[in-house]
Amino acid sequence: MAVQISPSILSADFARLAEAAASVERADWLHVDVMDNHFVPNLTLGLPVVESLLKASPVPIDCHLMIENPDRWAPAYAEAGAQSVTFHVEAAHAPVRLARELRHQGARAGMALKPATPIDPYEDLLGELDMLLVMTVEPGFGGQKFLDLCLPKIRRTRELVAKHGLEIWIQVDGGVSASTIERCAEAGADVFVAGSAVFAADDPGAMVDELRRLASV
Ligand code: DX5
Ligand code: ZN
Repeated sequence: MAVQISPSILSADFARLAEAAASVERADWLHVDVMDNHFVPNLTLGLPVVESLLKASPVPIDCHLMIENPDRWAPAYAEAGAQSVTFHVEAAHAPVRLARELRHQGARAGMALKPATPIDPYEDLLGELDMLLVMTVEPGFGGQKFLDLCLPKIRRTRELVAKHGLEIWIQVDGGVSASTIERCAEAGADVFVAGSAVFAADDPGAMVDELRRLASV
């Protein structure tokens, strides 16, 4: 699978989201972090902002829901038109039913794992998903240091995906930058979220190109 880059709008200026989205038009996705101050200790944005970004973004929206009870709230993001909707398995009550519902609505269904959540218990669920997100920081904030301890889980996920002959994308999120992206790619990731690395760069568009180049080798 070709490398895909998904810049996280969390590190952009929230008063200029449309400009930020336009600055990364050569990316594959725009990653939008929804936090509810319960599942994670931070509050960001919700459905109305995602609806506006869906109109403003030149690329599809990759919604990462760091919220309690995604069973109740995630389908509204798919209904609004988000092309990819990722929920946390730690918060989902019925992840299979939720993944099926999201797919039925026409979205790609993603499932995320916090650093301490192993992949093996979810092996049998992989066929229900379009993407598995391996968090490489504790979710909640941008700008944290990449956790190398998550690399074996990326490798293990890649093994399980191959074992079952699936075409699931493996996304990494947290501390991904020019200095860590090659490790993630080598471990088997193919969709790369980067927030501070992209939006703190002088030229976010050029950083998207650079990250893609580094992950492709
Ligand atoms: C963190 C979010 C990330 C965040 C990544 O919980 O899920 O998407 O924006 O930011 P960086 O790339 O700065 O670690
Ligand atoms: Zn995220």
